[in-house]
Amino acid sequence: MKNILVIGGTGFLGSAVVRELARRTASADSCFTLPTRRRERAKHLIVLPTVRVVDADVHDPATLARLMEGQDAVINLVGILKGGEGQPYGKGFARAHVELPSKIAAAAKAAGVSRVLHVSALKAAADAPSGYLRSKAAGEAALREAGLDLTIFRPSVIFGRGDSFLTLFAKLAKIAPLFPLAGANARFQPVWVEDVAAVVADSLQRADSIGAAYDLCGPTQYSLRQLVGYAAAVAGHPRAIIGLPEAVAWLQAWAMEFIPNGPMTRDNVRSMRVPSVCDGDCALPFGRTATPLETIAPTYLGG
Ligand SMILES: NC(=O)c1ccc[n+]([C@@H]2O[C@H](COP(=O)([O-])OP(=O)(O)OC[C@H]3O[C@@H](n4cnc5c(N)ncnc54)[C@H](OP(=O)(O)O)[C@@H]3O)[C@@H](O)[C@H]2O)c1
Repeated sequence: MKNILVIGGTGFLGSAVVRELARRTASADSCFTLPTRRRERAKHLIVLPTVRVVDADVHDPATLARLMEGQDAVINLVGILKGGEGQPYGKGFARAHVELPSKIAAAAKAAGVSRVLHVSALKAAADAPSGYLRSKAAGEAALREAGLDLTIFRPSVIFGRGDSFLTLFAKLAKIAPLFPLAGANARFQPVWVEDVAAVVADSLQRADSIGAAYDLCGPTQYSLRQLVGYAAAVAGHPRAIIGLPEAVAWLQAWAMEFIPNGPMTRDNVRSMRVPSVCDGDCALPFGRTATPLETIAPTYLGG
């Protein structure tokens, strides 16, 4: 595959995927096209010789049609954590997680780009408690209905340098004397960003991944309390963690929705009601071994 359109390729996971693809095809005349709303934020990718970062509104069907021309595959990594409230999901989730995949499916079909890779989220389901997870399920369904050569990835929370998860806890630990924590008992099975990127890159070369959906988890399950405690300790600021009762967590999340870039929403609290852990076989696909959190986190959280 020579030409690949990577929508959402400028983000945390997208950057790792693009770096991995560029590394694997270093000598080839491949081209990875990354549309973005903010080209200046993609400086770290612009320097890669086979990467083309373009200012584009991917929600505009005509723009999407142009971007699809000459592509051999498309990867969609667009995702948001705050999409507002509403049924079955808030407007932001509808736009980014459902309407955009539908538009991508239509544009890919029209351009004859049959190979599509799509990053969803672990436990995405039409009857999930949060708009985030319901909209992710609707996005998957929209792509599936289009009859493309589709592969879906459903990661648990992703960690690695530049994450907004462990890094956020480590930063908060620096300034907060203690942690009043919503969802302290919520379960996660964090997976390393480079492992996810490798699996995505592998699947482009594997016909047996067409039609498959892969749940992606790391080797170990943790409670949120354990993860926050760990990140704070590794960053050199061990802190007491106070688990908030659900009603208080709800109020805290509601109040945080008024803060620009606030760390939590009511929808996030609802998402955490579903354990973000892999059921059954937790192994990564294609014979890959998941990297332990404890091997990587100290390299970027350390004091
Ligand atoms: N990180 C995790 O822990 C995690 C866990 C499970 C699933 N996922 C899924 O993995 C994917 C990548 O996540 P990430 O952590 O890499 O996210 P991220 O760092 O926030 O990056 C999001 C990407 O999507 C684009 N984007 C965001 N909102 C958009 C919108 N409304 N319209 C068009 N483009 C938009 C951004 O492009 P611009 O350059 O234009 O800003 C950016 O490239 C998402 O689908 C996410 O739901 C992530």
